[in-house]
Parts: sequence; structure tokens; C-alpha cells
Amino acid sequence: MRDKAIITSALPYSNGEIHLGHVASTYLPADVTTRFLRQKGVEAYYICASDDYGTPILIQSEKEGKSPEEYVAYWNKRDFEDFSAFNIAFDLFYKTSSKENIAFVQSVFKKLQDAGHIYESEIIQFYCNNDKKFLPDRYVIGTCPYCKAEDQYSDLCEKCGRVPEEIENPHCSICGQTPVKEKTKHYFFKLKNFSEQLNKYLDNAPYLQKDVKKYVQNWIKSGLIDWDITRDISWGVPIPGSQGQVFYGWFDNHLAYISSALKFLNDKGIDGKEFWNSADVYHFIGKDIVYHHYLFLPAMRIGIGEEYKLPDYIPTRGHLTLQSKKISKSRNWYIGLKEFLKYYPTDYLRFYLIVINPYSQDDINFDWDEFATKINSELIGNLGNFVNRALGFTKKSFGGKIPTVEETDQLDKDAQEKIQNFSQEVSILMEQNHLDRALKKILEFSAHFNQYFQHKEPWKNGKGTNTCVYLSANAVRSIAIALYPFIPESAQKIWIQLGMEGNVSEQSWDSMSKLSIKDGHTLGIPSPLFVKVEESDIEKHKKKLGNKN
Ligand code: MF3
Ligand code: ZN
Repeated sequence: MRDKAIITSALPYSNGEIHLGHVASTYLPADVTTRFLRQKGVEAYYICASDDYGTPILIQSEKEGKSPEEYVAYWNKRDFEDFSAFNIAFDLFYKTSSKENIAFVQSVFKKLQDAGHIYESEIIQFYCNNDKKFLPDRYVIGTCPYCKAEDQYSDLCEKCGRVPEEIENPHCSICGQTPVKEKTKHYFFKLKNFSEQLNKYLDNAPYLQKDVKKYVQNWIKSGLIDWDITRDISWGVPIPGSQGQVFYGWFDNHLAYISSALKFLNDKGIDGKEFWNSADVYHFIGKDIVYHHYLFLPAMRIGIGEEYKLPDYIPTRGHLTLQSKKISKSRNWYIGLKEFLKYYPTDYLRFYLIVINPYSQDDINFDWDEFATKINSELIGNLGNFVNRALGFTKKSFGGKIPTVEETDQLDKDAQEKIQNFSQEVSILMEQNHLDRALKKILEFSAHFNQYFQHKEPWKNGKGTNTCVYLSANAVRSIAIALYPFIPESAQKIWIQLGMEGNVSEQSWDSMSKLSIKDGHTLGIPSPLFVKVEESDIEKHKKKLGNKN
């Protein structure tokens, strides 16, 4: 672990509202990681931006009768508000259409061109005689030439994850007619020439997930194709020296990781480039954009002489299904983040989406009943219960004042040892990106202390009561610090109920293993942290799914 880190998550298209699927795979894991790294003393910044270009955005803004600028400005603002309400704490949420990114993209293009990684070629492009326009990417729907999946956009097969060289059985996505072919001149990026260097990068990147590396290296083995980086549309980063053509969205968007980080750091008076190159670089993504992040992005960075280092981590997670069905906005089968947060506190969703979310490409499922169970039995029944029990008892029996330890038995010694090993045990999992397992370790810790409290029976006020109260209060403190990256609001509430000074966010991670609460310390006012999820409400939410208007 380096002492600096830059964390990014896949830039959301400025094209609609953030839903649970988005936050589960990328934004939440990235946010938890950033908070954790800061507790570990790492100077960590979480940088994001809206992805403003691309044909789908242009198509949608046209449909709504808005200018693309107006359209993306609306979604940039709205998405940022929704993320903020979910406590996704970006240091900067910028945009791919910023002047900084445009300038950066154009300079990268020139460097690639000077280094011989770009060539021009006349190509045949689909053209719709009905709509009178060229039809790049999503303007064309057809059959994937590799896996034969039907109804795929021409720029990415969602079935096999590959980028088709030419889609079969093409149709115009606006009017449905079969397009004709017209000539146009495009720039290509020589991705093919990077096969060897990409392999080397993947071989030598110890923190990339093994299984992802494996299938990416299989793609390399079966032959990469050069990338067409030109689009005959008006919405995009202008290609220097060309008339009216713009770059393909995937040429410019990931460069906004760098340009936005540089803007943030330079504005802070930090040398952005130097920081980037001495930091651990994380790009959190969903598995649908593996190709772009493991091949295209590193190749472009290698192509400009690794002026900006390649990512150390590309944490890649699967998709979220909803009640075991694929999320689909058009079929109304999704839950907007904003809507969800009208019903339940931020921390309920953060807790649930982390608990069910392994560090792998496996898809995960949002299930309303499971949500209720996890919240009621684990968050409330285990964590909330222990915190409230320990603090409530101290308040009732000791006026909230931590008593002096007298004798200690084996149970106390075990409990003390648990606290002492806690930071290390959870830290290892966090460092390996196993956020779900880390959270489960915290639950185990809390369950252990629930049992400990039960066995010691402090309410009988026998021998050892003082020690039990003292150790339990300290365990609550450890839990607050450990929970902070996952459920920051609740962690802070616990902190206040403990009567501690400052904010839980400022406590160092390793300090959770100290017995910092001493005798004589007076607690704050204990009160239940959480309210149960009601079965009847869950039934209502289920009925509402797919029936939004
Ligand atoms: N907007 C893209 C998507 O949602 C992700 C862009 S990530 C970046 O699929 F790397 F290109 F920035
Ligand atoms: Zn058409």
C-alpha cells in the first residue's frame, strides 16, 4: 500500500438517473475503499465525472428536443445530488466535456499520432438515407458476429463483451431501415501493436483479479483489432484538424480520470502528475467494461510513454439483478437511488449492498425479502443490539460512567484479545478488496461480544461486572471505527453515544484495537440506532416494481 491513492469509478453516462445497479458494482465499493484508505493514513482522493459524450446521449437529447449541452448539464447535476445523498463522497465530480479534458484528449491524440500509433483510413460507414446521417455505434443494431447474439449495438456485444468489427444484419436504430454504406475517413488507434506490452502489463500486475486477466489474455491471444476512434457526429471532443468529426466516446472518457484528477490536485496546489505517478491507482468498474479498461485504457497510456502510470487495481464486479431479473430501465425494472432513499436510510442500502457483494464477476441479486432479513437480523439484531445493550446497561447501572476494572477471567482475556486482533483481521480483507468479508468479520466480532455480554451476566452485578462493562464499551468503540467506511452515518451516531470527542472519520484504523476508553469516561446518551424494516412495507415495494409511471 502506497501512502497516496487515486480512486476512480466508471464514469456514469449523463443519460438518466443513478439506480441500485450502478452503485452496487462501482460507486459504493470505491467509496468504502477510499474511506478505509484514509483511516489507514493514506492520502486518498476519489475522483469521478459524468461521461457526457457518445451517440446514446445525442440520440436521447434529440428525442427530448434539448441541446446535448443542456441535456448533460441536467444529468451531471442530478447524478451528483443522488450520489451525495447516498454518501458517495467524491472529492471531485467533474465531466468529460470539461475544457481540461478536451485539451487533454487532444494532446494525448497528438502524442499518439507523433509516436506512430494512429493511422488514417477510408472506411465504409453505415448511412441512413431516411434520416440523412451516418450511423455510428448505437445508431445501428444487429447480430454479433462472434456469439451471434441478436439485437446488439454495433459497438459492443452485451452477451460476449466483445467489440464487433462489423455487426451482421444491421438496422438503423432510429427508423429501423436497413442502412446503406458510405465512405468516410477515420482515424484508427493501433491497438493490435500493443498486444505484447498489454500481456506484459497484465502478467506483472499483481493486484488485478486473476480470472479477469485470464479471459482478457485470451482475447489478446485470439487477436486484437485496431480501434476506430472517429465519429461522424457533432457531439464529442473535436478531432484537431478535422472538419466536424469528433472522437469516439471511449477514446476520451477514461482520459477524464486523469484530467479530472489533475484539475483537482493542481487546484489544491499539489503537483497532479507527480501525485498520480506515486499513488496507488484504482479504477472500479463493472464487468461490462472490462475490454475498455484492461486493453484500450492501458494501451493508450503505454502509447504516450506511460507519462501517467497504469492502474494498480481495476476492481471488477458483476451486475446487480433485481428480484432475480435483469435490470431494465425501459421495462421499468429498476429502483432509482433517489427513490430508494425516500424509504430507507442510506446506511441500510450501503450495508445490504456490501454484504451481498463479493469481490468477483459473479452477478448479485437485490431481493426485497433478503434486504429486510439482513437489516433486521444482522444490522439491527446483531450490531445495533450489541451497541444498545452495552451502552444502555452502562447508563442504567453506572450512570453512564465506565467503572474500574477489577478481576479478569478467561472470557475477558479472550474478549481483550479479540479487540487487539480486530484491526489487523479486518484490514487484511479490506486491502484485498474483500469488502463483504470484512463487513462479515465485523458482524462476527459483534456477535462474539453479544455472547460475551450474555455469559458475563453483568445485570446480576456479580464479580467481573466492571470488566465486562469496560471491555464492552471498548468493543463498541472498535465497532464504530470499523463500521465507518461502510455505514458512516451510523458509525458517527455510535461515536456520539459513546461520548467520544471529534469525528469517527478522524480515528486511525489501527486505533480500533486499542482500549482507549478508560475508567471514569462518561458516555453520551444511548438510544436505538435503527428502526426495523416492516414486512408490510416490503410487500408494497415489491408490488411497485415494474409499475412505475
Ligand atoms: N460511461 C461508461 C459506462 O457507463 C463508463 C465510462 S468509464 C471510463 O459504461 F473509463 F471510460 F471513463
Ligand atoms: Zn434511419
